[in-house]
Amino acid sequence: MLLQSKLPQVGLTIFTQMSQLANAHNALNLSQGFPDFDASEALKEALQRHVQAGQNQYAAMTGVPALREQVASKIARLYRNPVSAEHEVTITPGATQALFCAIQTLVRVGDEVIVFDPCYDSYEPAVTLAGGRCVHIALNSEGFSVDWQMFAEALTDKTRLVIINSPHNPSGALLSHADLNQLAELIRERDIYLLSDEVYEHLVFDGQSHSSVLAHEELYQRSCVVSSFGKTYHVTGWKTGYMVAPAKLTAELRKVHQYVSFCAVTPMQHALADFMQAQPQYVDQLPAFYQQKRDQLCQALQHSRFSFTPSASTYFQLLDYRQIRDDLSDVEMAHWLTVEHGVASIPLSVFYQQPPKDQFLLRVCFAKREDTLTLAGEVLCAI
Ligand SMILES: Cc1ncc(COP(=O)(O)O)c(C=O)c1O
Repeated sequence: MLLQSKLPQVGLTIFTQMSQLANAHNALNLSQGFPDFDASEALKEALQRHVQAGQNQYAAMTGVPALREQVASKIARLYRNPVSAEHEVTITPGATQALFCAIQTLVRVGDEVIVFDPCYDSYEPAVTLAGGRCVHIALNSEGFSVDWQMFAEALTDKTRLVIINSPHNPSGALLSHADLNQLAELIRERDIYLLSDEVYEHLVFDGQSHSSVLAHEELYQRSCVVSSFGKTYHVTGWKTGYMVAPAKLTAELRKVHQYVSFCAVTPMQHALADFMQAQPQYVDQLPAFYQQKRDQLCQALQHSRFSFTPSASTYFQLLDYRQIRDDLSDVEMAHWLTVEHGVASIPLSVFYQQPPKDQFLLRVCFAKREDTLTLAGEVLCAI
């Protein structure tokens, strides 16, 4: 039988490749985006408690009500949007599943979906499976801002969905409220939906604030906003996230969600609900927590031959290596750095349809313990 791939372009992701290479060479793994420190004891104890108490069967399809309530009250507090826990919030097995459901819900055969490069890798395969086509717009190479003129020129009658990601992986750039206003103006008269990937919503530094689509009254009416408990509570392996959308859109999102996974994992949802209720202010200390890690890495690299602008958000830092090896592509450099120097990173070109020429950037993750960052600093400074 001939097995015709529906995703012929897709292979093993660079994240898996680099982690495998890091393991094979016993390298410091700054490639994949997850913490090497543990979640809070209170959260882990809550999980144990709920498992012991028998919360081990299917949860409600839309999510455990207590967790949806906690999400809704956080959104009301931070973004002043009184979303309905019952009709607008859906808990999913990770943000990835929420993104997939939103894309399957909204994209029809032949539709165009605008994405901004460098772009998180899960969007395009989901668009392809839905029969749509991604139209890639490159962010400005300085500062990774959006060229709204270029965006306006990319709009066609087939444009159905725009996917934005702020705080932005891999660059750490932020969309401002003015950016959201521009976007709203440009799609106002068109039948275009917005998918806003905000999984790093709480990781914003230097006193800046996150401009959420949830806080943009006009855009929210045509949006699905996605976030992840994994990033916020240091539990990426729990694969628990959520999507928020106006009631009519949520009803359609849930039709897809119930046949992709039906529900998210039950005891995780109860544990997160307890933790959020007990410590609603937990998210307010996250910027300082991660900014300290960013600063530790940046200070350690101050006298290295890497050049960089401290990341404005997320837990990623871009490093320009051209002063060290401008003869190597970023993929070669990431490989060389892992094999020869024992530090794994992610080359930026993998986030592009067409990587810019003369770009020498690697992404490193600073969601790491103090000793890991100290060691990484020492190794990278010696190169
Ligand atoms: C931009 C972005 N969106 C979505 C995700 C996926 O989140 P989750 O682990 O909750 O599926 C990630 C994880 O790295 C991410 O960086």
